[in-house]
Amino acid sequence: MERKKYVVIMAAGSGTRMGGDLPKQFMEIGGKAILRRTIEAFVQACPGITVVTVLPEVHVGYWRDYCIKSNFICPQIIVKGGITRFHSVRNALSKVPDGALVAVHDGVRPFVSPELIRKMYERAAHVPALIPVLPCVDTMKMLEKKKDADGNPVLGEIPGAHVDRELLYGAQTPQIFHSEILGEAYSQAYDTAFTDDASVVSAHGKKLSFVIGERLNIKITTQEDLVLAKAILEVICRS
Ligand code: C5P
Repeated sequence: MERKKYVVIMAAGSGTRMGGDLPKQFMEIGGKAILRRTIEAFVQACPGITVVTVLPEVHVGYWRDYCIKSNFICPQIIVKGGITRFHSVRNALSKVPDGALVAVHDGVRPFVSPELIRKMYERAAHVPALIPVLPCVDTMKMLEKKKDADGNPVLGEIPGAHVDRELLYGAQTPQIFHSEILGEAYSQAYDTAFTDDASVVSAHGKKLSFVIGERLNIKITTQEDLVLAKAILEVICRS
């Protein structure tokens, strides 16, 4: 039987790296909230998908009002976030039954293409965990935070440390899983090494599969990213 599609949209971060009072997921680009654009990408790719939106507890009312005021009529199961991303995902999984395909996606990645979303759900039906990655284009350095003679923070080399760029890839979202496997993985105790869902599933001993992601699928994190996001939107709207 075909697995039902769910997407968990992670939007419970406080967005402190951006500055300002309103977390970045609620900021508008091109007249629409970033979070709305992200949800729309999934609904457009997979009509009938179940959307679980994870929000900061203090912004649940704000988001409900925003959806009404901006005429964004999309059924969403709203879940309150946790202290870390891990705890937020765990809260959301209480709304996802076993036997489904569940994507976990950052609410601040609005430019994921419907083509990648569709392609990934198709492939994820056949593997337990599917992760989009991009080959690393920069030369990478392993450095440590130190103090100079005056006690000021500086970066210093780690003697002998070498990173082979050919082996390095950056992980993106959406990461798609068989829901019962993701649920089991999230019953583990929290570890600070869990920076994405793939790391949680991998620590639980499950095999990961990979697809090549998309350069424009940026995670809007800083003020500079907001400038980039506006430029990407213009290009997408023109094409
Ligand atoms: O902090 P980071 O940049 O890794 O956040 C990635 C995504 O996870 C963001 O969309 C953010 O809103 C979400 N998040 C969350 N709950 C937290 C922390 C982050 O839903 N406690």
